[in-house]
Amino acid sequence: MKKDLITLLDCSDAEVLRLIDTADQLKKNRTLRPDLKGKSIAMVFQKPSNRTRVSFSVGVYELGGHSLYLGPEEISLGKRESIYDVAKTLSRYVHGIVARVFHHSDMLELAKHADVPVINALCDVHHPCQALADVQTIREHFGRLQGLTLAYVGDGNNVFHSLAICCAKTGMHVRFAGPQGYDPNPEILKQAQAAAAKNKVSITCGRDPQAAVKGAHVIYSDVWVSMGQEEETAERIKDFKGYQINAGLVKGADKNFIFMHCLPAHRGLEVTVDVIDGERSRIFDQAENRLHVQKAVLLHLLKGKAR
Ligand code: CP
Ligand code: NVA
Repeated sequence: MKKDLITLLDCSDAEVLRLIDTADQLKKNRTLRPDLKGKSIAMVFQKPSNRTRVSFSVGVYELGGHSLYLGPEEISLGKRESIYDVAKTLSRYVHGIVARVFHHSDMLELAKHADVPVINALCDVHHPCQALADVQTIREHFGRLQGLTLAYVGDGNNVFHSLAICCAKTGMHVRFAGPQGYDPNPEILKQAQAAAAKNKVSITCGRDPQAAVKGAHVIYSDVWVSMGQEEETAERIKDFKGYQINAGLVKGADKNFIFMHCLPAHRGLEVTVDVIDGERSRIFDQAENRLHVQKAVLLHLLKGKAR
């Protein structure tokens, strides 16, 4: 693996599968381990978080290391200090940096100047740890990945980008449906589609949620308004009308489909209560798997497993 995990585009198909395999093993045997004994991890967060923050803190603890949470008030990345100075300074203290930032370009700059591994804990373009946990969850449910179809209905955002890449690299078909103006980033889509083609699967984009969901094994949704887009809330809620996941829409899916959402969710907007809290929903398995897969990422980057 590379020094950092910024985007899954930087990982080979085999590396993605190895991370998920390691996560499965860690889940089966959840004990305190000494792998990161004596190591400290800085968690630089510019945005709020429940799952990412808690699962990384607990994960580092369970691997024998120590984590430091540095919220927006503490580090004020690029404002109180340049990203360069933050990267160089932290690298003298800690053995790894987990970062949640607004701009992808800030993530790249942090990784470029840090002398220790940087893990992307969400930026405006990618959310790789989420996608790894999601694909782990899908494999747990179906016992396989190859040839399954995931339908994503909503915003072509950070969560979609990473999920599309991860599915492509593990041999899953992806169908995206969203309103005009909210398509995925074309450059990322192109690269994800190239990865999919290598595995003889496809990523398609359209406007029709029914067509996307038809026969799908996984139905996925995320919020319509991501962190940092709060000012666009009214406009987005209007634009995403018709892209709600509800009982009517999921009728078209495979009979064994599962519903997934990275959380936090807005019940009654992107998904109805009956679906997200229904028997097909796997939202808390996804949330749990963040812990296992991020422990796997830490082991691979910091201990050189499978490097
Ligand atoms: N899914 C996810 O990343 O959740 P948090 O924003 O709570 O970390
Ligand atoms: N797309 C969402 C994901 C939150 C985990 C956001 O960026 O806010």
